[in-house]
Amino acid sequence: MVWKIRKARAEDSAAVKMIEREAGLSEWTEADYRNEAVREGSVFLIASGPEGIPIAGFLVMRLITNQVKADEPDGSSFEAEILNLAVRKKFLRMGIGKSLVSSAVSELRKSGKGVLHLEVRSRNRSAVSFYERLGFRICGRRARFYATPPDDAILMSRRI
Ligand SMILES: CC(C)(COP(=O)(O)OP(=O)(O)OC[C@H]1O[C@@H](n2cnc3c(N)ncnc32)[C@H](O)[C@@H]1OP(=O)(O)O)[C@@H](O)C(=O)NCCC(=O)NCCS
Repeated sequence: MVWKIRKARAEDSAAVKMIEREAGLSEWTEADYRNEAVREGSVFLIASGPEGIPIAGFLVMRLITNQVKADEPDGSSFEAEILNLAVRKKFLRMGIGKSLVSSAVSELRKSGKGVLHLEVRSRNRSAVSFYERLGFRICGRRARFYATPPDDAILMSRRI
């Protein structure tokens, strides 16, 4: 199957919300997603399939800073964070998650060099393996970061 990665639109919010729920991620509202589609500094991407499979996955990333940091010897100019990423269950392990992250990284490269961060539940071993496979490294842990159910956060990052 051929998957296309495109920018999200406000009207994708209901389908995105459904995928988020199915994946058991921390809950945003549909309005949060609508706002994200137009927010400056947000990269909100959709993986869409052929007709009949409009949305198979999504990614939300935000640029945190976009200033040259004088004390960074490698000239890093930004930090960004992946806030949400999920793929519909029936399309897992087909490369969709990887395509979404690759497209987000390509978008970031337009801003120069930087660091991409994320947090993931410590019990979500499959997501940790997924991110490690994409070049992210574990750089910390935040105790009891998540509620319902309570869990620590694993902090991961990757240089861009
Ligand atoms: C994490 C997630 C987005 C991965 O999406 P995906 O489309 O299935 O991932 P891909 O097919 O692109 O996988 C790329 C590589 O990551 C690794 N990987 C993916 N899922 C994995 C798993 N369950 N266990 C171990 N490694 C995994 C594999 O190396 C895989 O390559 P391979 O299939 O050739 O072996 C998906 O599992 C998901 O939606 N999970 C629920 C929501 C979530 O946990 N989001 C992350 C927290 S924000």
